[in-house]
Amino acid sequence: MQDRQSIHGSWASRWTFILAATGSSVGLGNIWKFPYIAGENGGGAFVLMYLVCIALVGIPIMMAEVLLGRRGRQSPVNTLKDMAIEIGTTKRWAWIGLCGVAAGIMILSFYSVVSGWVIAYVVYAAEGTFTGAGVEQIGKVFNDLLADPQELVLWHTLFMIVVAGTVARGVNKGLEAGIRVLMPMLFALLLLLLVYAITAGDFAAGWDFMFHVDFGALSWEAVLIAMGHAFFTLSLGMGSIMVYGSYMPKKASIGGTVLTVAGLDTLVALIAGLAIFPLVFGNQLDPGAGPGLMLVTLPVAFGNMAGGQIFGFLFFAMVAIAAWSSAISLLEPVVAYVVERYKIGRTSACVILSGFVWVLGVGALGSFNFGSDWSFFGFNFFDLLDFMTANIMLPLGGLLVCIFTGWWVGKKITADELNMKSELVFNSWFFVVRFIAPVAVAIVFIANLWQKFAG
Ligand code: PHE
Repeated sequence: MQDRQSIHGSWASRWTFILAATGSSVGLGNIWKFPYIAGENGGGAFVLMYLVCIALVGIPIMMAEVLLGRRGRQSPVNTLKDMAIEIGTTKRWAWIGLCGVAAGIMILSFYSVVSGWVIAYVVYAAEGTFTGAGVEQIGKVFNDLLADPQELVLWHTLFMIVVAGTVARGVNKGLEAGIRVLMPMLFALLLLLLVYAITAGDFAAGWDFMFHVDFGALSWEAVLIAMGHAFFTLSLGMGSIMVYGSYMPKKASIGGTVLTVAGLDTLVALIAGLAIFPLVFGNQLDPGAGPGLMLVTLPVAFGNMAGGQIFGFLFFAMVAIAAWSSAISLLEPVVAYVVERYKIGRTSACVILSGFVWVLGVGALGSFNFGSDWSFFGFNFFDLLDFMTANIMLPLGGLLVCIFTGWWVGKKITADELNMKSELVFNSWFFVVRFIAPVAVAIVFIANLWQKFAG
C-alpha cells in the first residue's frame, strides 16, 4: 500500500504541505484562545506547560499523524482501518478516526461562531467604530454583538458558506494561493501590534505575566487545559493533520516539515500574547476576562494609533482568513470520510455536513443570549463544546494515535516513512511516541479525574 495516491488530490510540493498545515494550525487558537486561556490560568506556569506539551507531546504526535496519513492516503478513518489490516490487527482502530469526525464537527461549530465575531470586527474596524474609543466603549461594542443572536447567526452563516464552498472546490484551488500571501502579512501585522504594545502598553507587566513562572498558581485542571491547547493549536487528535499528510508527496521529509509548522504556530501564539497582555495591564483590564479578551484589548490599540482604522481592518481580515484556513482543515477529514463511505460527491457531503455544523453553531452562539441559562455540568453550551473537544477528545485521539503508531505499527514501517538521517533522532522520537507522550497524556487525565472525584 506504499505508493498510492489519494482520490481527493495531492499537494504540489512539500512547501505546499507546509503552507496548508501552517494554515490549519495557525488560527483562532493562537490569536484568540491562547491569550485568554493563559490569562485565565495565571500566565507564566501555564505558558511553560503549554510549551512543554508542544515539544514533548505535540510535535511527536504530529509526525505520527503525518506519517500515518501519507502511508494510508485516505480519510483518517479508512487510513487507520487499512493500516490495521496491513499489520494484521483489529479494524477497530478506525474508531479513532470516527471520534475525530465527531470532534471536527463539534469544534467547527463554535469555531465558526468566533470567526463570525472576527468578521463583525472587520466591518466595525472599517467603519471606524474603534477610532479614539476607550476600553468601556469597546467592551460595549462586544457585549452588544454577543447579545444580538440575529447578527451572530448572520456572520456564522456567512463563515460556514465560505468554508463549505472552499472545501467543496477541493483543497488545492484557492487555499494555496491565499495562504502564501496571508501568512507573511498576518505576521507583519502582529509585529506591528507588538511594537504598539511595547510603546503604549505596560510591556514589563505583560512580559512578566507571560514568562514569570509560579507553579503555586498552577492547578491540574490548568495543566489539562495547557495540554488540550497544544493539541488544539497544532490541529492534532482529530485527523486534520493526518488528512493533510495523506496529500503529501512521498519524498518530502516529515521531521523538518513538522518542526517548521509547529515552530511557526508557537511563534504566532507567543507574539499574540505579547501584544495583548501589555495592553491588558496598561489599561487596568482583567487578564482572566475570558473569550472576549482579544476583542476588547486589540481594538483599543487600533483605535489609538496612527492609521489604526486601516491597520485594524487589515488585522481582523487576516485573523478571519487564518480562521478560514483552519476551518477548512476541520471540515476536510469529515468530508473525505463521508465521500469515501457513502460514495457521494464532495459538494453534497459539504452541504450536508455544514448543515449539521450550522445547527450546532446556532446552539453555541445562543450561550451568549437566548440560551445563557442552559447549563451542562456547569458549562454553557459553547464552553461545553470547547472543553469536551480540546481537553478530552483531542488528547484522547492523540493518545490512541501514539499507542497505535508506537506499539502496533512499529519500528519498521515508521522508520521507512520518516526516513530520517540520524538513527538517534529516530530512536528518540520512537521512544517518546511509545512511552513519554502516552504516559504524559494519561497522567494529566488521571490527575484531573482524581482531583474531581477524590479531591
Ligand atoms: N489549530 C486551529 C487553531 O489553532 C484549530 C484547529 C483545531 C484546526 C483542530 C483543526 C483541528 O485555530
